[in-house]
Amino acid sequence: MSPLLDVANMRVRYRTAGRFEAKVKGIGDPFIDAVCDVSFSIEPGQTLGLVGESGSGKSTIARALLGLKDIAEGSVRFDGRDLRSLDARSLAEVRRSIAMMWQDPVGSLSPRLTVKSLVTEPFRIHGRDGRDLDEEAARLLTMVGLTPDFGSRYPHQLSGGQARRVGVARALALDPKLVVADEPTAGLDVSVQAEVLNLLADLQKRLGIAILVITHNLSVVRHITDRMATMYLGRFVEQGPTQAVFGQPRHPYTEALLSANPDPDPDVAKHRVEISGEVPSLMDRPSGCEFHTRCPHVRDICRTVRPMVTTEGGEHSFTCHFPLSRAPHEDRSAGRTGQSGE
Ligand SMILES: Nc1ncnc2c1ncn2[C@@H]1O[C@H](COP(=O)(O)OP(=O)(O)OP(=O)(O)O)[C@@H](O)[C@H]1O
Ligand SMILES: [Mg+2]
Repeated sequence: MSPLLDVANMRVRYRTAGRFEAKVKGIGDPFIDAVCDVSFSIEPGQTLGLVGESGSGKSTIARALLGLKDIAEGSVRFDGRDLRSLDARSLAEVRRSIAMMWQDPVGSLSPRLTVKSLVTEPFRIHGRDGRDLDEEAARLLTMVGLTPDFGSRYPHQLSGGQARRVGVARALALDPKLVVADEPTAGLDVSVQAEVLNLLADLQKRLGIAILVITHNLSVVRHITDRMATMYLGRFVEQGPTQAVFGQPRHPYTEALLSANPDPDPDVAKHRVEISGEVPSLMDRPSGCEFHTRCPHVRDICRTVRPMVTTEGGEHSFTCHFPLSRAPHEDRSAGRTGQSGE
């Protein structure tokens, strides 16, 4: 199977100072790399989870895929077509197949529009193709488990879970092949979170949609994703099949994230691994391994030499000089002297 989405060495930058300001202050390169050398792919119908602390670049990846932010370097192929080489018209056509669920459930729904207008807005933007909007609204609302009469409500009249469902309905309007869901469960009660996740999983199964899910919530990742990636300072430091990564995180940062998220499964997160210190600034990236300033296992080489990517079994990769071994919580100093890849 060829991937639906194939991203290679993507870099996305934000300007940090205007031309004039940069000149006056003598800033040679007034940009930060919010996403740096990121590569991943998503098969049709597959779910990839993206995790990482606030500011690690997760939403920037979403913005770049949606065309809301320029891609400075790298290639992005969707459905076999290189997005960066398409003309505006073909690009718009391809992007109809990528739908977005935004980070803020109620805030991202325009308060003055009814639910019906909201879920059918994609048709008004991209062309109705002779569709009856009342019928479409009813169809979409039913698909996400709401009744058609929700169409006459306004966003402030919706509960958090209902607002999420409307967001999903809207995302599904144009029959996307990929849905990008940014924090789909943020701000929801645990029981409502489960409802929204079940809805996503169910739609994926029924419609064969691929999902890129961005979340701080590791239990979301564990329960609905096939693969996952951990981001730190705009880079992927680990990615692989979700089960493999949960079973044995190889990067200390992933291990720390996993252990900070209590999971009901007693085999997971038995030991809490604390990471101390502040996230470094993107304007002043640490030398060597960029995680070295916070890594509980740091050694000299980590401070100066950037680790290479190691790939195991063709699909689990990580960027660490001293990847965690199979028995992660035992004394790691014994028998672990090699560089990346053991
Ligand atoms: N418009 C912008 N201009 C300059 N820097 C930006 C801009 N938007 C984001 N950034 C910076 O880019 C980095 C990545 O931001 P991004 O929103 O992708 O993070 P995130 O992983 O989605 O975080 P969160 O979990 O808080 O949503 C951050 O350091 C952020 O400050
Ligand atoms: Mg974000």
